[in-house]
This record gives sequence, structure tokens and C-alpha cells, in this order.
Amino acid sequence: MLIIEMIPWIAAFAFLLSVIWIVLISWRNGISPMPASGPVRLAAAAEVQRIRGYGNIVEAGSGWGTLGLEVIRRCPGKRLTGIENSGIPLVFSRLFTLLYARLLPEKGAGEGLRKRVIFKRGDIYSYSYGDADIVLCYLFPGAMERLAGKFRQELPQGATVISICFALPDRQPVRVITCKDRLRTKVYVYRY
Ligand SMILES: C[S@@+](CC[C@H](N)C(=O)[O-])C[C@H]1O[C@@H](n2cnc3c(N)ncnc32)[C@H](O)[C@@H]1O
Repeated sequence: MLIIEMIPWIAAFAFLLSVIWIVLISWRNGISPMPASGPVRLAAAAEVQRIRGYGNIVEAGSGWGTLGLEVIRRCPGKRLTGIENSGIPLVFSRLFTLLYARLLPEKGAGEGLRKRVIFKRGDIYSYSYGDADIVLCYLFPGAMERLAGKFRQELPQGATVISICFALPDRQPVRVITCKDRLRTKVYVYRY
């Protein structure tokens, strides 16, 4: 068999292995890297825009990077650090950052964007949130329970948590937004 004929088989095998890898890590994490939908990303970005001035955003579980990039693109004064432990989505989030930086129409905006966003490999349960002005997350109820104590101990006074879909068990949100998507997804906003 010619090497050229083997290429589709190698590609299919690599794709299958990638899917298995993502599924295994999702199983360990308790959640898949499912990205937030367009209307939800816009609602989260609008919430960040309400917070004036400069600030550090930490995205706990940044997946493919689409939420973080949408937010950072719409919020010029902010910097974002995405924390993710699933290798394939993490690599894509870095590629999307380069792509976004290239494709942004405004002159110089792409370079600015690249300096304001970083996607890192890490564990959201051991990451230190002491420097975060804003935490963004789209996780699941068990994760929110585990993070609640960490946020209480580590977040600076005045910090904001924006959680897509899932509420924190220990506090009242200052605002709950219902998104205009098919699932009427809720976005919870907390102030510390
Ligand atoms: C539902 S996705 C949301 C992705 C992205 N925030 C978005 O809204 O498009 C949740 C992400 O959290 C990540 N995650 C879950 N547990 C994690 C952990 N312990 N450390 C790092 N990332 C984690 C998953 O791999 C997944 O990519």
C-alpha cells in the first residue's frame, strides 16, 4: 500500500484517539469541554463590560477558548488567564488566539489581544484565585461546591464571579441573567 493511500487511515486513527482522549479526561473531570453558545458568550461579555477599568479575569475551565476570546475581544481593559487541564481543547484555544489576533479587523487590535490573553494548563481546584478581579466559569454543580470555599478564602474583596448555568451553593447572586438562547441559559453574577 502506498504511503499516500494510508494518509486517510492515519488521519481517522488520530481523530479517533483524540476523541477517546477527550472523553477520558471529561469522564475524570465530570464535564466535557462543551463551549458556551453565542448568546451566552455575549451575555457573559456584557457582564464583564459592566465592570469598569482594568482587571484580571480567570476563566476556570477555559475549554476551546471561545468564551475567553469573545470576552477579551469585547472588553479592551481586561486581561484573561484561562485554566484548562484537557490537552486537545487547550491546544486549540492557543491556536484560536493566534487566529483571532490575525483576523481582527482593527489595526493593532490583534496584537493587543494576544498580549491580554493566555491559556494555561492547570487544575481549577489548585489554582490560586488571589489575583482575580473576575472569575468566569461554565462548570457543573459539584465543581461549584468545591470552588465555593476556595473563592470565599482566596478572592479579593470586590471580586466578581460570573457563572454560566450553575449557581454557587453558599451565596445569593447580585444578578441573574436569562440568555436569549434556546435553553434560556442562566448566568449568575456574584460579588465578594
Ligand atoms: C463546559 S466546559 C466550558 C468551557 C468554556 N469555559 C466555555 O464556556 O466555552 C468546562 C471546561 O472545564 C474544564 N475542567 C473541568 N474540570 C477541570 C479541572 N479540574 N481543571 C481544569 N479544567 C477543568 C473541562 O475540561 C472543560 O473544558
